[in-house]
Amino acid sequence: MRIDVLTLFPEVFEPFFSSSIIGRARSAGQVVIDCHNIRDYSSDPHRKVDDRPYGGGPGMVLQCQPVFDSVAAVERMSAAPAHRVVLTPRGERLTEVLVRRLSHEPRLLLIAGHYEGFDERIFLGLRPHEISIGDFVLSGGEAAAMVLVDAVVRLLPGVLGADDALHEESFADGLLEYPQYTRPREYADMSVPDVLLAGDHGKIAEWRRAAALELTKKRRPDLLERGGTEMVAG
Ligand code: ADE
Repeated sequence: MRIDVLTLFPEVFEPFFSSSIIGRARSAGQVVIDCHNIRDYSSDPHRKVDDRPYGGGPGMVLQCQPVFDSVAAVERMSAAPAHRVVLTPRGERLTEVLVRRLSHEPRLLLIAGHYEGFDERIFLGLRPHEISIGDFVLSGGEAAAMVLVDAVVRLLPGVLGADDALHEESFADGLLEYPQYTRPREYADMSVPDVLLAGDHGKIAEWRRAAALELTKKRRPDLLERGGTEMVAG
């Protein structure tokens, strides 16, 4: 997969995209990620990318020209057709189902805005897939783009090891994850459940399933009502 990110702050992405699982996936060639500065495509002599909203109101609005021109230039950098995404609180809610769908795309082009918003003609002209990471407002789409990339890249073939993949399966059944323990057996008067120490793998699987179900019932009963489809499909 190829991922292009269009942003006014490419420097905030680099450390995140170079670390941990995403960094490893890039080094292994499982994903190519490139960040591009929208400002580099501004035709304004002062590299301006935003202006005050028509009709008045607070804040600044991202202008059409730098966004349209940066999208066109970046799309020309590779022959693969890009699935265009704009990160915005008014978009479709990001779920594991949507993440799975996106993980099958050959190429994602993510547009992360800042300021008060985008000129509406950016949506009308580019027809992007508008995606929100939740019902709250961030100061920009950068953190949302990082969330999306993280969730997608870990699903790409070969990115997670065999152990992680098994773990993934246990999450994909639509339940919250079961509680985990590691050494020591006792810590501050809290002990590890006996069943996890006895080595009976059938019993351990049974305990984990029951514990996951109990946690899901308590914390996210909505997942059970939906039959876990948010997690399973895709
Ligand atoms: N930009 C600002 N808030 C956002 C959100 N909740 N999701 C995606 N992009 C955003």
